[in-house]
Amino acid sequence: MGLTSTAPHLLRAARGEIVDRPPVWMMRQAGRYMKAYRDLREKYPSFRDRSEIPDVAIEVSLQPWKAFQPDGVILFSDIVTPLPALGIEMDIAEGKGPIIHAPIRTQAQVDALRPLEPEAAMPFIKTILQALRQEVGDKSTVLGFVGAPWTLAAYAVEGKGSKTYSIIKNLAFSDPTILHQLLAKLADAIAVYARYQIDSGAQVVQLFDSWAGQLSPQDYDTFALPYQRRVFQQIKQTHPDTPLILLVSGSAGVLERMGQSGADIVTVDWTVDMADARARLGKQMKVQGNLDPGVLYGSKDFIRDRIIDTVKKAGNWGHILNLGHGVLPDTPEENVAFFFETAKQLNALV
Ligand code: CP3
Repeated sequence: MGLTSTAPHLLRAARGEIVDRPPVWMMRQAGRYMKAYRDLREKYPSFRDRSEIPDVAIEVSLQPWKAFQPDGVILFSDIVTPLPALGIEMDIAEGKGPIIHAPIRTQAQVDALRPLEPEAAMPFIKTILQALRQEVGDKSTVLGFVGAPWTLAAYAVEGKGSKTYSIIKNLAFSDPTILHQLLAKLADAIAVYARYQIDSGAQVVQLFDSWAGQLSPQDYDTFALPYQRRVFQQIKQTHPDTPLILLVSGSAGVLERMGQSGADIVTVDWTVDMADARARLGKQMKVQGNLDPGVLYGSKDFIRDRIIDTVKKAGNWGHILNLGHGVLPDTPEENVAFFFETAKQLNALV
């Protein structure tokens, strides 16, 4: 398709081309561990302002790009950002995460949800993604992201983050009809939203099913996997060439199932050895990961050794180097810088 020569490094690797070193970016690479972010947060204390005022969100998205030149630049936003457009009002509380004002627990509430019209409800996303593409050109790949149905439903039903997921599991195991309707509506809205991100400039999209690892594998098959598939299938119908990544936090017990979701790339976390992940997922599946974010508290030698170990285990095809989950808020910024520098010299080191 004549795409190969000018496409940026991460996009080429995500499409399955052989590249000279694995591309590298970091989940949550924009955020609290950066002084530039903390400074801007004083001026814009509301997360919704930081992520929905285009100039501010553009600046935050570009902070790690300017500091470290990662191979991927991710939209600064949150998985719950589209919920108000469906009729689920929310805020993101400092240190707590999403808060849903009226948690969704009844048939009437599910019936009242609106279909997503991103152009009308969240035009800031287009402005932000277009500006990011303009800024990084072919030097980096712009990533969009969306939350998966199960994980968004967990917030919508619980009303906030949870350790036990008691309320949504109560619904799942006592009255699943309502939950399945909610999951289906969320899946259709998320697919529309992902397509809108791609049309606005996102070159790769990551689906975060962060809390699907809280389900037993048999319940993952009922409440997570079918809806991941529904999202991926709908995106692929209109955008077959955009690589799609899946993340589940606590992936060890469901890794093979993640490979059945329709994702092009499976994120592996540090609870799985990368060599085992390769064996379990098969040669054709591309992988992303999988350093423990805590590794960045270690010495430079330690960080370098772990990068090299991961890259050797992943092999020289179909690997995007990343942490297994988001960078931790108190990570030393210079260790993040060292992580990126080392990763970008890998063709000389391995
Ligand atoms: O990776 C990036 O740089 C893009 C930014 C990004 C944010 N949220 C910004 C954010 C991404 C990809 C997300 C996705 C997200 N949001 C997920 C999936 C990823 C994962 O961690 O599994 C989830 C589960 C959420 C929900 C959410 N939002 C949580 C759990 C929190 C953190 C609560 C806390 O304070 O620790 C948020 C708030 C949030 N979203 C922050 C950031 C940088 C921290 C608050 C802040 O900086 O003001």
